[in-house]
Amino acid sequence: MTNVDVYDVCNDLDFSKDIINFAHLSPTDVIFGPNCVRIIGEKAKDFNATKALIVTDSGILIAGHLDVVLESMRLANIECVVYSEVTENPTSSDVNDCAIFAKSNSVDLILGLGGGSSLDTAKGANFIITNGGEMKDYRGIDKASNDMLPFFAVPTTAGTGSECQSFAIISDNHTHEKMACGDKRAAAKIAFLDPLLTTTQPLKITAQTGIDAISHSIESLVTKTKTDVSEQYSRLAFKLINRSFENVIKDPENINARSDMLLGAAYAGTAIECSMLGAAHAAANPLTAKFSIPHGVAVGLMLPHVIKYNSLDNEVARVYGSLIDQCLSERVLELLNIAKIKVSLREYGISDNDLSGLSDAAATQWTGNFNPRSVIADDFLALYKSAL
Ligand SMILES: [Fe+2]
Repeated sequence: MTNVDVYDVCNDLDFSKDIINFAHLSPTDVIFGPNCVRIIGEKAKDFNATKALIVTDSGILIAGHLDVVLESMRLANIECVVYSEVTENPTSSDVNDCAIFAKSNSVDLILGLGGGSSLDTAKGANFIITNGGEMKDYRGIDKASNDMLPFFAVPTTAGTGSECQSFAIISDNHTHEKMACGDKRAAAKIAFLDPLLTTTQPLKITAQTGIDAISHSIESLVTKTKTDVSEQYSRLAFKLINRSFENVIKDPENINARSDMLLGAAYAGTAIECSMLGAAHAAANPLTAKFSIPHGVAVGLMLPHVIKYNSLDNEVARVYGSLIDQCLSERVLELLNIAKIKVSLREYGISDNDLSGLSDAAATQWTGNFNPRSVIADDFLALYKSAL
């Protein structure tokens, strides 16, 4: 349960109080609102914190968001140490470095401040600090034995929804294959959703992370493991992001649009916690690993093709059709156009010769198992060809 009040944002949408309140998101409480980060120190006191590790990246330091968090912690007499070496698509080596830093400082609370990479690095480090070993030991679900340090998640992008998930997505050092490492004890105790923090990100990041978030809402809606409850979170996420994506690109300072995007990403993350994702993410991961295409771009450009593939299942087509009064794949293409994302794989230097290797890699992705229609390497080959 949570004390969040988000009705001002969601009051014109037809969803139950429980869904709007993230009531199914145990053990994470969600606190939403402009300037809500100012109560971080007070909340950290509730966990008897005396020394906090803040995990972030250099861009956040420049934006000044760290100062607000540090001031809140100072007022609560909580000492802070800052690890600001987070990189995009964090690897197990990055996580180890963060964990070593944390151990040398004897911290008793971890706070991730930034995009999905910062939150996942913080979450991953928590596994290593409290349970030892290395990230690959925790690939899958519930591989940890010991309790973890309390973790606060403070997203500055509206994208991954990592703040509402118990999974840390960490890339293997050598293969750059993404490993999903999940444990309820790794989930945030509190997610602070402050839309003001999202106004300073570069427009390109707003666009790419927003496409990732709406992809989460669409993929999680139809997976093999979705439930009636997760479906509601997916639908609410889609409605919020779909109505505000264009506004937030045109008017980045618009707090109402930023609120929709940030909440939408969090609702989608909540849906994923139960329903997982599908073939668009499975196809995207090798594009990121082998061709360095940013995650949101890779997922977004594959999504219209996956929607068409999945629509061959009548029930999935019906669910897609109930989401929006328009062809869903065409709507995704419109959003990609608004985001100025190129939708042809050739524009990223990919040729026919690359597709077989990409397909083999996509077929090994764990996330593909949850797609409503089964996808084997030949299916991925067809999907990549259609995106070429
Ligand atoms: Fe994603």
